[in-house]
Amino acid sequence: MPVDISELINIAKSAREKAYAPYSNFKVGAAVLGCGKTYGGCNVENASYGLTMCAERVAIFKAISDGCRDIRAVAIYAEPAAYPCGACLQVMSEFCNEDCTVIVASSKIIEKYILKELLPFRFSKDAL
Ligand code: THU
Repeated sequence: MPVDISELINIAKSAREKAYAPYSNFKVGAAVLGCGKTYGGCNVENASYGLTMCAERVAIFKAISDGCRDIRAVAIYAEPAAYPCGACLQVMSEFCNEDCTVIVASSKIIEKYILKELLPFRFSKDAL
């Protein structure tokens, strides 16, 4: 299934409107394409800061909990644009193959990567 980048970015942008980010005020939206479906997510912060969950992981966990284990693309939308954090890259690496598309977008930029570029070495079940 080809990745419709602009549709995925729009879903991430809409998901960002639901962000719960009263502590950082940094709102992030994400969208996942997998199994022919799309899943949106936003960051969800907590007064106990360490419990904060990134937008990417919310969207990925929505896909996984819907039974989709074949993630083809992830888009992240923020102002300014934000690259996925290391924790999110590790979670992506669990469910996405190394040429999964990762889109980093804002109102000013759209950058397209494959997961392997952002996480050249992955810790995986192969090590266990
Ligand atoms: N954040 C994300 O949602 N995704 C990332 O990849 C980086 C950071 C969120 C977490 C927190 O709510 C806020 O951005 C500031 O770190």
